[in-house]
Amino acid sequence: MYIQVPNIVPLDNILPDEPLLMMGAGPVPIPAKVASANSIVINHLGNTMAQIIEQVKAMAKYVFQTESQHILGVAGPGSAAMEMAVVNLVQPGDKVLSISNGFFSSRLADMAKRADADVHVYQVPNGEYADVSAVRALLEQHQPKVLTIVQGETSNTVYNRSLPEICQLAKAHNCLVIVDAVCTLSTMPLEMDKWNIDAVITGGQKGLSSIPGVSLVAFSDLAWQVISERQDTLRHWCLDAKLADQFWYKKSYHYTAPVSGILALHEALRLVCNETLPKRFERHLICSLALQASIEAMGLSLYVPQQARLNSVVGINVPAELNAMELLNFMSATYKVEISGSFGPNIVRIGQMGEQSRAHNLFRTVHAFGSSMKALGVNVDLPNGVAVLESQLQQLSKQIRG
Ligand SMILES: Cc1ncc(COP(=O)(O)O)c(C=O)c1O
Repeated sequence: MYIQVPNIVPLDNILPDEPLLMMGAGPVPIPAKVASANSIVINHLGNTMAQIIEQVKAMAKYVFQTESQHILGVAGPGSAAMEMAVVNLVQPGDKVLSISNGFFSSRLADMAKRADADVHVYQVPNGEYADVSAVRALLEQHQPKVLTIVQGETSNTVYNRSLPEICQLAKAHNCLVIVDAVCTLSTMPLEMDKWNIDAVITGGQKGLSSIPGVSLVAFSDLAWQVISERQDTLRHWCLDAKLADQFWYKKSYHYTAPVSGILALHEALRLVCNETLPKRFERHLICSLALQASIEAMGLSLYVPQQARLNSVVGINVPAELNAMELLNFMSATYKVEISGSFGPNIVRIGQMGEQSRAHNLFRTVHAFGSSMKALGVNVDLPNGVAVLESQLQQLSKQIRG
């Protein structure tokens, strides 16, 4: 007797008639070129794939701003790339200093603990960015081999603006630096080589506007030396960087690569290169600042003070009279626009990553957000929010683009 065939509803009856506009903390909308590349399957070890891998690495060098010859793709979420960086650089007993601003940066600490490291966590006070002098003192006190830090903490929308100074300090203490740039890469400056970063991690589904599930990690020469000199056998087989190097640099087999996802990533990186980083950073900055001004002009407040505020994901305080989940559900059902709740603080989050940072998406989101709030009994000034969005987009474009 076989187990019975389940009663399955076809996808067409589950998915909405028109795609929702994904304006939350990721995944984000993907361009048509990325979507179409993602529908192709090719031989993962053939010449076509080899050429694509060469291009992905060349474009990733530009996007990470590095000359590294150790850029690896990971078949997995951003967390898999985080774990790849941690387990390859951290050996049991190693001292690790983990700077924690929230949910994702503490995940790096957790991963280091699971790798049997001796982890000291610097818990940054809520709503603040990591303090350089506190990091200096901790480096002197603990002499860690590895420091972990997030550039943008998506969970509570905090931005570690002193990242370059912290990397420089770590270098002066012979400490390797792992940076989580999952939500920030290609939305704001990050210069891997200039800032002396030893491992940069990113996912596909945020700034790059690709699909979730294929991620990248770039190791510096120094990091690669540490990895190459390791004598022990890594407990993780899929995440072993030396094995992954077989596929990414030696045209050989590690595991069957996620070919469609890599093709999608290729297109996403190509679009970043076509746009160029300076123009992309300007676009993100203009859109995010205009959105922030628009939200405030509606009469709402932002969660993080300006000096520590992340532009890639904007956190908005939920008025006391409103239930965040109700707002998200109403917006999605009525206006087909999705934004995110949060892992902790009573905020909702609107993403400004990749395709989210387009004026037409902003107007639709601000309208959906304000109208939903009003429908649920919150007295926001939506016309003012829309007017300020328009005027700020104009003004900031002049100011920033000149
Ligand atoms: C800053 C940051 N780091 C890491 C991750 C983990 O990425 P993933 O969910 O793809 O594992 C996320 C995802 O939201 C993130 O925003």
